[in-house]
Amino acid sequence: MSLRHVSQSSLQFILFGGKGGVGKTTMAAATAVELARKHKVLLFTTDPAPSLADSFGQTIGNEPTAVEQVPNLFAMEIDASKVLKEFKEEYGNEILEILQQGTYLADEETEELFQLEIPGLDEVMSFKKIMDFMESSDYEMYLVDTAPTGHTLRLLMLPDLLDNWIKFLGTLRWKYHTMVRHFAQKEHIESADKFLVDMKKTVKKVHSLLQNEEKTEFVVVTIPEKMAVSETQDLIHSLEKMQIPSQDIIINNIFPQDECDFMKQRRSFQDQYIQKMKEIFLHHTITEVVLQATEVQGIARLQTLSTRLFTGTPEEDG
Ligand SMILES: Nc1ncnc2c1ncn2[C@@H]1O[C@H](COP(=O)(O)OP(=O)(O)OP(=O)(O)O)[C@@H](O)[C@H]1O
Ligand SMILES: [Mg+2]
Repeated sequence: MSLRHVSQSSLQFILFGGKGGVGKTTMAAATAVELARKHKVLLFTTDPAPSLADSFGQTIGNEPTAVEQVPNLFAMEIDASKVLKEFKEEYGNEILEILQQGTYLADEETEELFQLEIPGLDEVMSFKKIMDFMESSDYEMYLVDTAPTGHTLRLLMLPDLLDNWIKFLGTLRWKYHTMVRHFAQKEHIESADKFLVDMKKTVKKVHSLLQNEEKTEFVVVTIPEKMAVSETQDLIHSLEKMQIPSQDIIINNIFPQDECDFMKQRRSFQDQYIQKMKEIFLHHTITEVVLQATEVQGIARLQTLSTRLFTGTPEEDG
């Protein structure tokens, strides 16, 4: 009864997701602390309201920041809107060129189209940023603390969305090339084409990494409550549909065994939902985590929690 899949040494990419407030950030931080004993780990948060800084009790920046007292562990917050801005600065000319050359729109209209917020593009860019880090740096494991479920599912579906967007730009490009060939009878590869090819490669890479069973694991974090059971079912169903490997479930905030009637009653309700999840998610490994007496903040508390996560002793109180 402990995080089984996450301990597998071939893993390189571990995502933590679930509904709001169930303990995603805490579990991601505790797991990162444990994995950093043996590996060089980089923990990202893509949550627009990041709380990694609270978990670790120190400031975490937009670049890898060394976590104090934990050698080998680095953490960074990804500011999606900033990443999108950088992306526009880097590739804006190419995108504008594609739009201008492939449509019959006036320049001002193209500018307008380009300025339009393409839904989810900022999140795709967060993922691209993660991929860029994975390609250019020497961490052995990358962990991602994601935003609450709706957000995360959008993020995971985005490679498809982006793919459609690239196809659309590609069609415009093809029209342009046909015209150029027709009138000028020559063709040359321009930076706009290179941009499309690069983006296409990125989307393909994100897709294949997310679906790689040896390298990737999506840890689902939940709590023993009625609503959470159905939301967890939806999340797991979506992950299956997207073929994203997910074998570990953490049930957090379980009340400790106690003699007090109130606690006994609350715990017996929780036990029903825990049992239900064990029946529904037969093929998953379920790790139970007890509600601690205090919030899980600071390295010492994260270490205590991570020992429990990895050795499976859920009943002790913090
Ligand atoms: N097992 C636990 N015992 C006691 N406190 C906990 C436990 N798990 C999480 N907490 C506390 O609950 C609060 C919420 O946890 P956390 O921030 O990890 O949730 P989250 O799922 O990341 O939330 P959000 O959806 O807002 O990102 C934090 O203050 C954290 O310290
Ligand atoms: Mg969080």
